[in-house]
Amino acid sequence: MAFPKIQDRIHQELDAVVGRNRLPRLADEKDLPYTCATLLEAQRMGSVVAFGSPHVCGEDTTLGPYAIPKGTVVVANLWAIHYDPDLWPNPDEFNPERFLDEDGVLQKNEELIPFSTGLRMCPGEHLAKMELYIFFTHLLHQFTIKKPANTPPLSLKGLNYFAHRPGPFLAEFVTRD
Ligand code: HEM
Repeated sequence: MAFPKIQDRIHQELDAVVGRNRLPRLADEKDLPYTCATLLEAQRMGSVVAFGSPHVCGEDTTLGPYAIPKGTVVVANLWAIHYDPDLWPNPDEFNPERFLDEDGVLQKNEELIPFSTGLRMCPGEHLAKMELYIFFTHLLHQFTIKKPANTPPLSLKGLNYFAHRPGPFLAEFVTRD
């Protein structure tokens, strides 16, 4: 909704690959690189669980120059990784192309870790990714989502409690033929 040109491109890709006579399926995913790149970029900028969950250091250890005593609460700042300009040029720009190579092939990037990493990373990752893909592709296959006239400017700033989520906003869903 905030990036109508990107939405147009997703509509074109969905119409070319899926067509108008059925809904998108998981099996279509490999043929929808631009749509999938947009979902990855939304996960980077959204950083839904921006600080992971707190963990406690089980034994005295060191990490780079830091001595971390046993019992220290450790929080991973996933947000900072996803907005690090050394990893993501112009990190405040919503740009799905950063996940595509020059031939438009989807590039997985190990520095994108919205589900964290390590032994205690999110066990719901695969379910969540399937849900994101199915919800997103079904909605965009069926609707054009627009910012209604005379509504406040859209903000990507979001509210952060445990989960980083959008503030209230209005959207207009226009049925696609
Ligand atoms: C977009 C959706 C989701 C995101 C971005 C997400 C992200 C995360 C993150 C960052 C953590 C912390 C990992 C760590 O501390 O190292 C976590 C933990 C966890 N997530 Fe998710 N999650 C999502 C959906 C789900 C779903 C759908 C389920 C279950 C069906 C789930 C179940 C859990 C559980 C049980 C933990 C705690 C794991 C542990 O402490 O051992 N999550 N998630």
